[in-house]
Amino acid sequence: MKVAISGATGIVGSHVRRLAQARGHEVVSLTRSTGHDLTKGLSAQTLAGVETIIDVSGIQTLSRRKATEYFLAVSRTLQSAGAAAGVSHLVALSIVGIDGVTSSYYGAKGEQERAVRAGVLPWTLLRAAQFHEFAVQTVERGSMGPLVVAPRARVRPIAAAEVAEALVDLAEAGPAGDAPDLVGPRDEILADMVRTLLSRRGSRRPVVEIPLPGSMGAAMSSGRLRGSPDASQGRQTYAEWVDQLPRSR
Ligand SMILES: NC(=O)c1ccc[n+]([C@@H]2O[C@H](COP(=O)([O-])OP(=O)(O)OC[C@H]3O[C@@H](n4cnc5c(N)ncnc54)[C@H](OP(=O)(O)O)[C@@H]3O)[C@@H](O)[C@H]2O)c1
Repeated sequence: MKVAISGATGIVGSHVRRLAQARGHEVVSLTRSTGHDLTKGLSAQTLAGVETIIDVSGIQTLSRRKATEYFLAVSRTLQSAGAAAGVSHLVALSIVGIDGVTSSYYGAKGEQERAVRAGVLPWTLLRAAQFHEFAVQTVERGSMGPLVVAPRARVRPIAAAEVAEALVDLAEAGPAGDAPDLVGPRDEILADMVRTLLSRRGSRRPVVEIPLPGSMGAAMSSGRLRGSPDASQGRQTYAEWVDQLPRSR
């Protein structure tokens, strides 16, 4: 089938693209680097022949306003261009445990979920836990001089490659509404994940754990992001994922 992937160059999107191609699907990549800024619109022509859109685009900000504007604009674009082009399925990716979180990035993900559920395109929504790669993103976003600042968070991280596998499976299966939550095999503390990653890189940078404010910070530190006991579980542990990274000294 022909699949459009918004965010096809991102952490999870790169895996989705590779896997979809490996399974014989024709892929249209929708990112700014491939010439499509989805906050500004998209021609139905670009989606000609596309059956399914997998939306794994994202923005890196903690501002609820900015993130909401972004996710709602992208949703509007995909819904209207998708409907005009006859797309029959939208698969979107959200985050486990964000119910009731009204602040910051997770508040915006809630808005995105509502837009998916209320949209004209038949949909499937997968909520996944934080990726193992979230430790890398935390180092990139939380660097303050020599320090790395990590939000206090109890998580059950999962390999982005396994989330991608679930997304392609869901795309192939057809619209299903809310899919079961997908989490990793073990509980972790985000600051410890960052320390393990830095050590693998041969870095001794100090990691400082801080509680984030608001309902997003409370959700992160409470352990709610680890999902419910009936969530589907990934296979690869964080330690196994780190072990396959190149070691530097
Ligand atoms: N990271 C996690 O731990 C995690 C966990 C669960 C769910 N999620 C969700 O998964 C999704 C992807 O996360 P990620 O960490 O893989 O993201 P990422 O690595 O930051 O990638 C974001 C992707 O979106 C594209 N993009 C950004 N702005 C765009 C625009 N205006 N128009 C078109 N494309 C745009 C980027 O490409 P260009 O820059 O070239 O445009 C890139 O391909 C997000 O919705 C996130 O909430 C993430």
